[in-house]
Amino acid sequence: MDHARVLAQVHDLVKDHIGRGRVADYIPALSRVDPGRFGLALATCDGEVHGVGDWRTPFSVQSVSKVFTLALVLARDGDTIWRRVGREPSGNPFNSLVQLEYENGIPRNPFVNAGALVVTDRLLTLTGDSSGELRSFLREASGNPAVDVDTEVAASEEAHSHRNAALAHFMAGYGNIDNPVQDLLHHYVRQCSLTMNCADLALAAGFLARHGLLADGSRLISRSEAKRINAVMLTCGTYDEAGEFAYRVGLPGKSGVGGGILAVIPGRCTLCVWSPGLDAKGNSVAGVAALDAFTSLTGWSVF
Ligand code: DON
Repeated sequence: MDHARVLAQVHDLVKDHIGRGRVADYIPALSRVDPGRFGLALATCDGEVHGVGDWRTPFSVQSVSKVFTLALVLARDGDTIWRRVGREPSGNPFNSLVQLEYENGIPRNPFVNAGALVVTDRLLTLTGDSSGELRSFLREASGNPAVDVDTEVAASEEAHSHRNAALAHFMAGYGNIDNPVQDLLHHYVRQCSLTMNCADLALAAGFLARHGLLADGSRLISRSEAKRINAVMLTCGTYDEAGEFAYRVGLPGKSGVGGGILAVIPGRCTLCVWSPGLDAKGNSVAGVAALDAFTSLTGWSVF
């Protein structure tokens, strides 16, 4: 396939969607991003990268980070995390508190904020420095040593983290958080505030397309764990829009309120798209449209 030509076609097809939606403003530092940006990168399983638009411009990864913390926990700890977090779609917003009380402090899945807090809590217990561990992994796996925390975004998020603090305290009340909530929030916020570009994220997620293998051929997670992460991305990666995303795109995907979406085509490639305008569910409007256009043009989907 002529990757560059297909990416250019996708860019062309989604031009009208770029700038639509609303930039996230509940984290004030995120609201200053230009809504007119759009980038799309594709990384093949053998490490070739292609891109279009602002694919080299760093942005705040936010919830896209949740895929990587889950992989790092599974890599170290195997299946035990599933005693503390479920794997069902929530049908609720990513920062919702309501389901947690009905379900005794066990979050629906690892991609809603409550579930991601549990995963980060486990990584913090296992490593003593979950955000540092994640940053090292992402630098190595993306090949970009400049991957780092945006301290302004982190400070802004930490100062506005009342909902996440409520989720964490609530789960701690059920015995589902091991570390002091303040420490957990600090690492969670730093993880979400990592800044990467589309190429970095597509390359870093390559192990999900290579059935668990890193670029150098070593194994991060088992084939079955890679399958399971992809499955949870498909069913839960875009929150209460996961059904619509699966319908339109037909790929495992994980979004973030920075406007990024990571998608995986197992055995072929990873895609990362970025455009900051979000729909009501917190997913990038132009990003979803671009992935929809990509799978429609190429026929590459898991279905
Ligand atoms: O915890 C939060 O609210 C943000 N750091 C991440 C939320 C997010 O990206 C949800 N994704 N669509």
